[in-house]
Amino acid sequence: MDKNRVIIFDTTLRDGEQSPGASMNIKEKIKVAHQLARLGVDVIEAGFPISSPGDFESVKEVAKAVKGPSIAGLCRCNEKDITACWNAVKYSKKPRIHTFIATSDIHIRRKLQKTREEVVEIAERSVRFAKRFCDDVEFSAEDAVRSDFNYLCQVVEAVIEAGATTVNIPDTVGYAIPEEYGRMIKDLKNRVENIEKVVLSVHCHNDLGLGVANSLAAVANGARQVECTVNGLGERAGNASLEEVVMALNTRKQFFGLTHGIKTKEIYQSSRLVSSVTGIMVQPNKAVVGANAFAHEAGIHQDGVLKERLTYEIMKPQDVGVPSNKLVLGKHSGRHALIRRLKDLGYHIPQGEVERVYGQFKALADKKKSVYDDDIIALVEESMGRMPEVYALEYLNTSSGTGIIPTATVRLVKDEKPSASSKNAKKGGVIQEAACGDGPVDAAYKAIDKITRIDAKLTDYTLKAISGGQDAQGEVNVKVEHRGVSYTGRGTSTDIIEASAKAYLQALNKIIAMTKDNKKKVRESL
Ligand code: KIV
Ligand code: ZN
Repeated sequence: MDKNRVIIFDTTLRDGEQSPGASMNIKEKIKVAHQLARLGVDVIEAGFPISSPGDFESVKEVAKAVKGPSIAGLCRCNEKDITACWNAVKYSKKPRIHTFIATSDIHIRRKLQKTREEVVEIAERSVRFAKRFCDDVEFSAEDAVRSDFNYLCQVVEAVIEAGATTVNIPDTVGYAIPEEYGRMIKDLKNRVENIEKVVLSVHCHNDLGLGVANSLAAVANGARQVECTVNGLGERAGNASLEEVVMALNTRKQFFGLTHGIKTKEIYQSSRLVSSVTGIMVQPNKAVVGANAFAHEAGIHQDGVLKERLTYEIMKPQDVGVPSNKLVLGKHSGRHALIRRLKDLGYHIPQGEVERVYGQFKALADKKKSVYDDDIIALVEESMGRMPEVYALEYLNTSSGTGIIPTATVRLVKDEKPSASSKNAKKGGVIQEAACGDGPVDAAYKAIDKITRIDAKLTDYTLKAISGGQDAQGEVNVKVEHRGVSYTGRGTSTDIIEASAKAYLQALNKIIAMTKDNKKKVRESL
């Protein structure tokens, strides 16, 4: 093992999914996992198998489908959790069981209602149990940062003795300060006798905005695995952001003297994909992947960059795969040019999909003089993010204005196959409805509701322009809630009402598909 290599452990699909509203279905998780493999992460934590049949299934499917990285599942320190975890990760060529128990007094006494002695004994026993299934066992001392240091050393030594191969020291509540956390890692390395047998790992939450700084302080002091997420998603304020950790290691290579296996050119696409499937937008000023991360506004800065890029730019946008927003294609471009450009941008279109994507591109190019990289990225992301469509938009007409009651007429084509949650709707064919609303979007949504009869509540709606100019496309992202579960949808069009209707329909189609999926899963797990 190279002592200077940092293992990148991605937990977007587990801790990231614990972000409010970030839930992903199995297909979306597999898609993200494939992208994480292309990105070059060493370990994918695909979920928490015991937590639900859906989570079990997605860890299992990711373990089956994704080659390259190790596939880990999370489990508490007990036999039932560990066995379920193994039954999900065992399909991977490189399975990992990741088991955890809290070691801080507040968690031990209040949450677990146990003693320190009991916890160390459970931790040791659980690691031994996990080792019966799997060589690669990671142990996490939850809330390690607020644990008594001597006791933490005792637990770490015991789990290494029991066979753990990675020991993780999480800052579960994002409480640490970089200097203090770095010292803690260093002290652990000095104090725990058998520490050289394992990879020391860190997992930092961002409650004080220090997740990345703490992770970097830890690697500077000997940690060799960083647990992180794309876009910094995660419980509460999130986890350390993968792209920020990696680009800090790259940009300050002289300082850290460390390597990793991440293909940084895949960063931007990974960020877009995660944002698209979770419906959680990246803030414009987010480091590395935000829309403004490489935008120079001040005149002095622009002047400096034009004379010498390095005056104000410490990273190149191309290094993280950010497309330069050039005009590339128009209505006379052929399919080869389109597929070539998509390939350059990191999108691999399966042969069978080429005609459909090209058709959509031509339709867009007919409406829009200038087709930018961002336009075609939005186009493929929208069409690739599509669930099997039960309802497709065929016709939309709205009228609104001052002194007019906004109205909408919507015509949807319904797939012939009957679906679980829309059993009240007519089976198959073309269905048309009209409705009034507070505005044209509201009216369109009400007309769609009349057709689908799905009991869904719109909880979030955002609209942004893709690329620039008067003919810029609008991108709408929505979240809707159905029976306590949140679903996302995205739609793009040069007409923002149409983009809104497409986004809403995508979310409703997901509800139908998920309801079917879940019913099937429950049947299978009985
Ligand atoms: O934050 C945390 O402590 C965790 C562990 C389960 C690794 O997510
Ligand atoms: Zn966590």
